[in-house]
Amino acid sequence: MRVAISSCLLGAPVRYDGGSKPISEVIELAQKVEVVRVCPETASGLPVPRPPAEQREGRVYLSDGRDVTREFDLGARRCLDALGRSPVSLAVLKAKSPSCGVGLVYDGTYSGRLVPGRGVFAARLEEEGVCVVTEDTVKSCKPSVEHPVAIVLGSGLGHLGSLVRPVRRIDYRDIEGFPMSAKPVEGHRFEATVGTIDDVPVVVYPGRIHLYQGYSAAEVTALVRHAHHLGCRDIVFACATGAVPGQAHVGLGILTDQINLTGRNPLAEWDGLRDVESPFVDMNDAYSPYLRTLARGVADDLGIAVEEGVYAGVLGPCFETPAEVAALRTLGVSYVGMSTVCEVIMARALDMNVLGLTLAANESGATGVSHESVLEAAGRHAEDFERLVRGVLRLL
Ligand code: HPA
Repeated sequence: MRVAISSCLLGAPVRYDGGSKPISEVIELAQKVEVVRVCPETASGLPVPRPPAEQREGRVYLSDGRDVTREFDLGARRCLDALGRSPVSLAVLKAKSPSCGVGLVYDGTYSGRLVPGRGVFAARLEEEGVCVVTEDTVKSCKPSVEHPVAIVLGSGLGHLGSLVRPVRRIDYRDIEGFPMSAKPVEGHRFEATVGTIDDVPVVVYPGRIHLYQGYSAAEVTALVRHAHHLGCRDIVFACATGAVPGQAHVGLGILTDQINLTGRNPLAEWDGLRDVESPFVDMNDAYSPYLRTLARGVADDLGIAVEEGVYAGVLGPCFETPAEVAALRTLGVSYVGMSTVCEVIMARALDMNVLGLTLAANESGATGVSHESVLEAAGRHAEDFERLVRGVLRLL
């Protein structure tokens, strides 16, 4: 996987004042991918050191008043041209800068204040379809013993749990809010394992409960709140789905977005919203673009066939009628399943980084689909699924 990374984040003394900003998490990532070092400001020909630059009303000025918009455009174009020969899907750029900032940039008062906006180079990369993040995203996704990666596994995918080197096990009945009486359906086990996979700290939940079993949205999201309590910042949801014909094929998929058709929402039902700052949760980029891009890169590098698409969560437990399949296609849905949507809402309310992976076990609306056939299809793709998850964990 090729990743463009700001040279200053890797320790090069290229910042306006002649300094650098080495970030250990970014340097670690750089050791595991093919790196293209970028610095649009040095590419612009501007001298180092120089006065700081900031954006104001769509232009870029040095603090001595000189308009350097042309130089910043030129630097961005030169870096893009250099990348054009070797396309990247991901760029990790220095936060807040007038060339590289994502989401927030300095406000033009040279006082350290920030305003919503994008750097000149970051904007060009995004227009080219590159996922652009800052060092803050890489840092916030970095697992550690304090911040293990939570992995919630669906029907037939529980085998991944056997890869964990266990440190301790947690009976789901000891998890607050998880219904004491819940019994796992076939293919699920109700015991979380805290430990490591390939030395990456994880907490694996090898099974879940569903709305269609009569549980509330609050109950089906108890595992997410538990993961958050344990310190998890990243959470991987894996679920079995049906692939909507014409939109996706049977096999592995990366979820890009969701439509909640369950009619339930854990933020409306749960009376213990104490961990949630506000129930009015922003659901843009609910599935982390950074984690999705890593997953795509791993799949491409390992030759694993993976599609991408929108997930629709339905209440179930019956499968879809032909009219429902047609409606889902019209809605732009690729994958339909009976889990995950409420969990993703809860995870986002708790500001967790979400990766959604699916095994489309059958075509939605196909005849002869049963729980057994879903488990059987999951078994056929289990090895690729495990390679994909391990590859993503390695990059985090
Ligand atoms: N529809 C909904 N959920 C599913 C399906 C399906 O076809 N297959 C596995 N989970």
